[in-house]
Parts: sequence; structure tokens; C-alpha cells
Amino acid sequence: MQKRILKPLVFLLCLLPVVVLVWQLLTDRLGANPIDEVADATGEWTLRFLLITLMATPIKRLFGWGWMVRVRRMLGIFAFFYATLHLVTYLWLDQFFDWGEIWLDILDRPFITIGMLAFVLLLPLVVTSNNMMMRRLGRNWKRLHRLAYVIPLLGVVHFWWLVKADVLEPLVYGGVLALLLLLRVRRKALTGRVAGENCAS
Ligand code: HEM
Repeated sequence: MQKRILKPLVFLLCLLPVVVLVWQLLTDRLGANPIDEVADATGEWTLRFLLITLMATPIKRLFGWGWMVRVRRMLGIFAFFYATLHLVTYLWLDQFFDWGEIWLDILDRPFITIGMLAFVLLLPLVVTSNNMMMRRLGRNWKRLHRLAYVIPLLGVVHFWWLVKADVLEPLVYGGVLALLLLLRVRRKALTGRVAGENCAS
């Protein structure tokens, strides 16, 4: 029973931010500049979902909660979903699909360049997020999915370069990412040591 409701429940929870955003938009609750608000909210939710996806394994190891691992793929897909909404907001509501302007923006504004890079790097992860691709790519699948750490790092830099002075929020996201990376490196070092000891004995 619990297992059966887990995925639909998490699915609905993941949709909640976009439902709230649409409601705020329709009821005129997004202030004087609703487009900026939509861009900010979708950008932050992208970053949050990227980090939440990375938390699944450490949370299982630290607290024994395996349920997050079972929905990890869904969480990653939702990161892509919010990134796509974020990008579409920019392309459509901010730039009105003026491809010349968009191209200049990508070349001229480093925070846009790095956001675009993060989005492009998300694409191979989404395309290979299924069992068939996992089998096909073998060891390369793991190598490719290390990008899951690079993309939020680019997201943090993108945020940092956007806000310029008030860096508290990107700093918090960066801190969470640093902690997750540290846990992963520590785990790698420990498993490497155990494997070494087993070989020696
Ligand atoms: C994985 C990819 C991305 C992540 C994680 C991300 C994340 C963010 C975050 C956290 C913000 C700031 C939100 C705030 O101020 O509260 C933001 C703002 C913004 N992002 Fe992204 N972003 C990504 C990709 C992109 C792409 C591809 C573009 C466009 C080419 C883009 C354009 C913008 C713009 C224009 C803003 C400023 C919105 C405003 O305040 O007017 N982002 N993004």
C-alpha cells in the first residue's frame, strides 16, 4: 500500500510549485513584475530539485530512508521540467522568441551563458534516465551522470552572477551542494580503502 501511493504522492507534491505559481499568476498575486517572479520561482525550483535529487542516496545511507531513492528518477525529471519552464519563460515572455536577441544575450551576459550551458548539460541526463540506456551505456552511464553535480554548480554560479551583491541565497544553495559533494567524496574514499584492504588480505 505504502509503496503504491509513494510515486503518485511524490508526483503531486512535485507539481505543487507550478500549481501555486499558476494560481498566483491567474489571481494577480505576483506583484508589479510577474514575468520576473515566474522566472525566479522556476529557476529556484530547478535548483532545489537538482539538489533534492542528489540527496536521495546520502539520506538513505545516513537515516535508512530508501523511499527517496525509489523516486529519484522522478525528482530528476522534475528538475528538468522546472528548468524547461524557466527557459520557456525567458525565451517567450522575456525575449518574445527574438532569436537574434537571445543569441546576443547568450554571448554577452555570462549568467545567461552559464544557465544555458547548465540546461544543455541536463539534456543527456534526461535522455539516458531509463533502464534501457543504463544497460546500453554500462560504466559510461555512471560517468555521464556525474554531470548531476556539475549542473547545480553551474546553477549556483548562474544565480550568483545574477544577484551580484546579495549573495546569501546562492551561498546557501552552494553550501548544500558542497556538503553533498563532500559526503560523496568521503564515501568514495571509504569504499576505496575497504576495497584496497580486501585486495591486500
Ligand atoms: C539548470 C539550469 C538553470 C538553473 C538551475 C537556473 C536557476 C536560476 C535561479 C536560481 C535564478 C534566480 C532566482 C531568484 O532570483 O530567486 C535564475 C534566474 C534567471 N535565469 Fe536561470 N537557471 C537555469 C537556466 C537558465 C537558462 C537556460 C536561462 C536562459 C537562457 C536562464 C535565465 C534566467 C534569467 C533571465 C533569470 C533572471 C530572472 C529575473 O529575475 O528576471 N536560466 N535562474
